[in-house]
Amino acid sequence: MSLKIEKLDYEGRGIAHQDGKICFIKNALPEEIVTMEITADKKSFSEGKTTSIIKKSPLRKEAVCPYANQCGGCVFSCVSYEDSLNLKKEILKDLLAYNKIQVAKVNLIPSSKSLGYRNKITLKIKDEQFGYYAEETHDFIPIKNCVIAARSIQNLLQDFHLLHLKNGSLTIRSNYNDELLLIIDSDEKPKIDRLLVEKHKIAGIIWNQKCVYNSPFFIEKMEQNLYKVHADSFFQINREIASKIASDITKYFSEEDIVYDLYCGVGYFSVKIASKVKQVIGIESNTKAILDATYNASLNGVSNCSFHAGKVEVVIDKIPFHGNKAIIDPPRSGLKKNVIKYLQEHPLQQIVYISCNPQTLVRDILKLQKIYTISSLDIYDMFPFTKHMECVCVLNSKKGEI
Ligand SMILES: C[S@@+](CC[C@H](N)C(=O)[O-])C[C@H]1O[C@@H](n2cnc3c(N)ncnc32)[C@H](O)[C@@H]1O
Repeated sequence: MSLKIEKLDYEGRGIAHQDGKICFIKNALPEEIVTMEITADKKSFSEGKTTSIIKKSPLRKEAVCPYANQCGGCVFSCVSYEDSLNLKKEILKDLLAYNKIQVAKVNLIPSSKSLGYRNKITLKIKDEQFGYYAEETHDFIPIKNCVIAARSIQNLLQDFHLLHLKNGSLTIRSNYNDELLLIIDSDEKPKIDRLLVEKHKIAGIIWNQKCVYNSPFFIEKMEQNLYKVHADSFFQINREIASKIASDITKYFSEEDIVYDLYCGVGYFSVKIASKVKQVIGIESNTKAILDATYNASLNGVSNCSFHAGKVEVVIDKIPFHGNKAIIDPPRSGLKKNVIKYLQEHPLQQIVYISCNPQTLVRDILKLQKIYTISSLDIYDMFPFTKHMECVCVLNSKKGEI
C-alpha cells in the first residue's frame, strides 16, 4: 500500500496518515509517495521505513554518504545542504506551532562546512572493522569513512589498521591543530604503532580510562582563547558554529552583569564572555571538565569566573547567587523540574538557552513562559545533514529589569 508523505517530524521521519493512524516513516521526504515496512505497530501510530519510492521528491539526490540509509546518522544527506536547512526550519516551525509557541522569525545560521565538521566521532569495532550501530539497534554497519568527520579524523580512519584493534569502541577527537585524542574501550591493549604516531598528530591515547600514550587532554583554540579539554570533557562538536554562537551571544552581556553559566563544560562560554561582564559562576557535573574550566580561566587571564562541580539540579539552590542573567546549555534531556522551578522562583533578567534538542527546549520554554517571554529563537546548524539542530533561545523576564 502507498502512503503520501505530508511533512517531516523532529526526527526527520516522514509523516503520513492511513486508516486514522499516523505513520512515521524513515528515509522519506515531503510530497513523496512511498511504501513502508512497519517496524512498530501501536494503537494510534505506526513506525517503519521506506521500502520503495513510488513518486520521488524533486529535492532527492544521490546521498553524500554511501552508508546514509543504513547508519541513519545523516538523514538529510539525500538532499542538497540548502534544502536540508529549509527542511530543518520547517520542522522547528511545525514543532513551535504544534505547541502554540509564537516566535516572530526563526533565523537559520548555516555551517560553512557541511561535511568534515565533526571534531568527535565514536565508532564500534567488530572483528577488526570499524563502523556504527544502525540507529536504535545493535546492528553493526561497517564503514570505510565518515564524511562528516573532521579531515584529520578521516585521515586516521584510513590508517585504522595501525591501531591493531579487534573489538570494542573507539572515540576520536580532533582540535584546531589536527591533533587527535584516541579513547579506546577494548579488552586488548592497543599497540602503539610507530607509523601511526609518525603519520598523525596523536595528542594522547586513553585505553579503558587510563592514559597509555602521551596526554589525556589536548588544547583547543577558539579565536584568541585557549581551552584545555580532557578526553572525558565535553567540547562543542562544530568549531565554526560554536564560535558563531559564542560571538553572537556576547552582545547580550554588559559590565554590570553577573552571569550563571549552567552546564558550563570546560568553561567555553564563561571564558568567552568573562571580559564583558562583572562575574561568571559556572556549574557542571563532570569533575574533569570543571577542573579544565578552572584551568581555562587562568590560561586566558580571566579572574572573574568561579566554577562549581555538581549537578545543576542538586547545587543550584545551594550556591549563593545574586546574578541577573544566565547561559544555559544543558544536555539533550533539557532542564530538570527543580531547575525550571528555581528559574521561575528566582526570575532572571535574561536567559540565553542553548539547546541541542528542540523537543526538550520546547517543553522547557512552555514552563518558563509563565515568567519569561521569548525574544528570539534561532537555529545554528551545528550538525549538518543529521536530524540534530542547535537552537539558541533568548528569554527575557516579563517583569523587565530585575
Ligand atoms: C551541551 S554540553 C555544554 C557544555 C558547555 N556549555 C560548552 O559549551 O562546552 C552539556 C554539559 O552539561 C554537563 N551535564 C550533564 N548533566 C548535567 C547536570 N545534571 N548538571 C550539570 N552538568 C551536567 C555535561 O557534562 C556537559 O559538559
